[in-house]
Amino acid sequence: RQEQFAAIFDLYQNAERLYTHILLNTTAGEQALAYLHDDRKLDDETIKRYGLGFVPSNNVLLAYAKEHNLADKLLLESQLFIDQDGEISRDRFNNRIVWPIKDVRGQVRGFSGRSLDPNNPAKYMNSPESPFFNKGNLLYNFDQAKPAIRAGQPAMIFEGFMDVISAALAGATGAVATMGTALTEHHVTDLSKITDKILLVYDGDAAGQKAAKRSIPLIRQVAPQIEIGVVSLPDGRDPDEVRREQGLEVLKQDLDHGVLTPTEFLIQAAKNGKNLENQVQYLDFLKEAWPILAAASPVEQDYFLRQFSEEYGSDFTALQREFQEFLAHRPA
Ligand code: UTP
Ligand code: MN
Ligand code: MN
Ligand code: MN
Ligand code: MN
Repeated sequence: RQEQFAAIFDLYQNAERLYTHILLNTTAGEQALAYLHDDRKLDDETIKRYGLGFVPSNNVLLAYAKEHNLADKLLLESQLFIDQDGEISRDRFNNRIVWPIKDVRGQVRGFSGRSLDPNNPAKYMNSPESPFFNKGNLLYNFDQAKPAIRAGQPAMIFEGFMDVISAALAGATGAVATMGTALTEHHVTDLSKITDKILLVYDGDAAGQKAAKRSIPLIRQVAPQIEIGVVSLPDGRDPDEVRREQGLEVLKQDLDHGVLTPTEFLIQAAKNGKNLENQVQYLDFLKEAWPILAAASPVEQDYFLRQFSEEYGSDFTALQREFQEFLAHRPA
């Protein structure tokens, strides 16, 4: 069993090497390399640092496996191939750019592959869940981020691989990503062992906002000592788009100076899409604001009640009374 595991880890590492070689040095990888250079603005050094690769459609890994007499059972267990009833037919990530997903020790545990075809509905495809690959336990780039976080870099959680790479290029080397799934208790526990500060840097769209709204209470529950910051990017952009469209300097500024407290972020999100000059919508907003403020510190509560009073002309003591009323009647 131990040997089987070691053999699969070996296969993963060799797959990474093979796919990177194809991307950087062969004609089969030319189109993907041009995409990474020209559209994604990555240089070869970055490609190597993150082990990016390309999987051509000629089943090169399957050929490699046969050449090295690897048993079918091992190949099936690795999940790097597509099979029909145990009959291996091809490499799983055919025609995709792949990112190796490593555990905290730098051991490859699976891959995520991006289609080059903009019309492909499955933009990214991950290794299936297995004893080797569990999205709820893995944080992309944690192997490289962990020493950086220990050395004092802020821990930043992003949505995607390209966001992590862009952040690191901007000097934010404590960057990790959840892979299209929600942040889990396991992720938070891992991070809480090495830091007491987490920045959430999700995409500046509705999905990213929703993810932040979900992650804030989870972090508070799992690790109440952690100070949370939320970076809210404008215009539906993600961090990688900010780098490519506005440059590294703007991304750096956003990550350094665009940090909101969870309360600021949640209040801003509650204001979104409401016309607060309209009495009905203003009262709706207040209803959303009370539970947000209930989780905030007394100083923040006071700050926001004053802000509402000044901005929308409500009497300060009336706001205070209404908030106290909410606290008194909220379910335990
Ligand atoms: P996004 O849709 O924000 O993708 O999903 P992205 O990272 O910005 O992709 P690019 O920039 O177009 O290459 C965020 C993350 O969700 C996962 C991936 O891990 C992705 O990085 N995802 C997304 C999937 O697993 N499958 C999908 O079809 C889409
Ligand atoms: Mn080029
Ligand atoms: Mn997104
Ligand atoms: Mn994105
Ligand atoms: Mn993106």
